[in-house]
Amino acid sequence: MEKFYVTTPIYYVNDVPHIGHAYTSIAADAAARFHRLLSQDVFYLTGTDEHGLKVEKSARDNGEEPGQLVDRVCEKFKALTGILNLTNNDFVRTTEERHVKAVTEMFSRMKVKGDVYKDRYEGWYCTPCEAYWTEVQLAGTKLCPDCGRQVEKVSEESYFFKLSAYGDRLLEHIENNPLFILPLSRRNEIISMIKGGLKDLSISRTSFKWGIPVPGDERHVLYVWVDALTNYLTGAGFPGDAAKLRRYWPCDLHLMGKDIIKFHAVIWPAMLMSADQPLPKKIFAHGWWTVDGKKMSKSLGNVVDPLEMTSRFGRDQFRYFLLREVPFGLDGDFSIKNMINRINSDLANDLGNLYYRSLSMLEQFRGGVVPAMNYDTLTENEKNIIYAAESLFDKVVAKMELCKFSEVLTDIWEFINTLNKYIEVSAPWKLNKAKADDGLNRVMAILCEGLRIVSLYIYPFMPETAERIAKGLNGGTDFSAADLNRDAKWSAVLAGTKVAKGGPLVARIEIEKKEDKSALSKPPTQTPAQAPSLGPSQATSPAQVQASSQPQSSDGGLIDIEDFKKVKLIVARVMAAEKVPKADKLLKLTVDDGSGQAGRTIVAGIAQHYEPEALVNRNVILVDNLKPVKLR
Ligand code: ME8
Ligand code: MG
Repeated sequence: MEKFYVTTPIYYVNDVPHIGHAYTSIAADAAARFHRLLSQDVFYLTGTDEHGLKVEKSARDNGEEPGQLVDRVCEKFKALTGILNLTNNDFVRTTEERHVKAVTEMFSRMKVKGDVYKDRYEGWYCTPCEAYWTEVQLAGTKLCPDCGRQVEKVSEESYFFKLSAYGDRLLEHIENNPLFILPLSRRNEIISMIKGGLKDLSISRTSFKWGIPVPGDERHVLYVWVDALTNYLTGAGFPGDAAKLRRYWPCDLHLMGKDIIKFHAVIWPAMLMSADQPLPKKIFAHGWWTVDGKKMSKSLGNVVDPLEMTSRFGRDQFRYFLLREVPFGLDGDFSIKNMINRINSDLANDLGNLYYRSLSMLEQFRGGVVPAMNYDTLTENEKNIIYAAESLFDKVVAKMELCKFSEVLTDIWEFINTLNKYIEVSAPWKLNKAKADDGLNRVMAILCEGLRIVSLYIYPFMPETAERIAKGLNGGTDFSAADLNRDAKWSAVLAGTKVAKGGPLVARIEIEKKEDKSALSKPPTQTPAQAPSLGPSQATSPAQVQASSQPQSSDGGLIDIEDFKKVKLIVARVMAAEKVPKADKLLKLTVDDGSGQAGRTIVAGIAQHYEPEALVNRNVILVDNLKPVKLR
């Protein structure tokens, strides 16, 4: 069985979880879930980076032991697993015994190789960044080139790693492995960095204690990056668990933000070469998120909390937005407004309506049972739909290999919208009326099968939504035994199953206040002359059905302006529509009125002018303040 080992950087406990952390984790989770769908043996590792001067200082400032601080903060990062619905298989803390063993072993191997020597370190240190700078890098200032804060002069005895000896081998490896560092821009950046010459790296400190001691010289603790990078081996069982190590190492994908690509693409491979360990297959650096155009920082108070985002908008919604909005590798700007737009247009509209509409029609026309379809009468359009479904696999696999998450989602949505268009052109309500059973069966079967395939492809990104679709279609929600290669092929597995659509798949989120909404939405375009507006229609509380009454006045049907002013008109979107049994004129509509409550039920006397299914997805104008009347 093929294996897939994916990692995120281990998170600094000196920070609080934010959208940047969430981003790497969600991307890794999507990759992990995708490879599980390919029936691979997946190992997804994450964890916390708990050592270093910064942590020691923070603990001292809080009047606590560093051990207490890291135990406390580590829990916040562990909680991301639930908050973001992550499926990491392990969580390494750098203060764990197994990790201390791994780091100690790495150091010893590098030393045995002759790559470690003792000297004096003289230079400039930025405590917040835990970075050492040379005079050249400071370019005449005393300010950290990364964060702009004051650096401190340090001079101490230190162990050094002969990084300079690895430049040529690194370059050779990068050149022979075009996918080793991605995206291309980062690869070029690393190549020129190495060509510019690598200096030996100071890898120990004597100025603080909170770290892993250098074996045999306990006055020194190891530099945090040597410590932290080794977590990727710790998780894979290094050095004690040879079987696990053989099973998972080398790592298939190290994911991280572009700020730490240098550590992963230069220092880490050199350390591995020195310790005679195979190099990771792929290192991918994603871009940087700003918030409303500004750098995210505690002091600006604009740190986006993943817990707040997922509880307000949903875990799947947040996952989808982060991976869809920005091509992976590029920088992005986070804004609630953009997120709401994405949720409403891509999730509630495109996907949510496809699901709700398809299953509603199936319930109405075929008692909710997926019909078997006749393949001999397929139209060209239907053949194209099946072809589009089948060709997703190769496209998606190839793009996932390159971490092109946003493009993968675009491809999936193209298929979703192909199905939406198919509903419009095939007009199943007309087929139903004309009793065109063969055609209607095909449409119903194709929509359900299309949705089933969609659920598989969206699963890595939106697992809960995928499960909801699967549950609605055939009651099964377990993707753990699914295999994309086998199960995403066009099939007849659903024929004969009874669907149960449940509530709306993804709720719309209201952007503007209700009063502004009418200006934003378009009224329906097909208003017949007999029915100047889609009225009269009445709003009721759910399940209450009302009489349809014409506005009455003593003045030949005219109402005066004062009466009109009392009428509150709103725009709502029709989610489902059906005839009211034994009533010629009435349609029962389930609408989304933007109030945030999913599904409000109303009745409108328009059954003679509209086919119920043709109303789905349309905006209609409603009288919001009509008194409820009991109809039956
Ligand atoms: O760097 N936009 O941990 P970390 C995008 N402990 N990504 C962001 C981001 C932002 N605004 N802010 C942070 C560390 N990240 C080390 C790693 S691994 C051996 C040691 C990303 O908690 C960042 O790029 O500072 C990194 O991928 C992750 O969050 C953790 O950052
Ligand atoms: Mg950082």
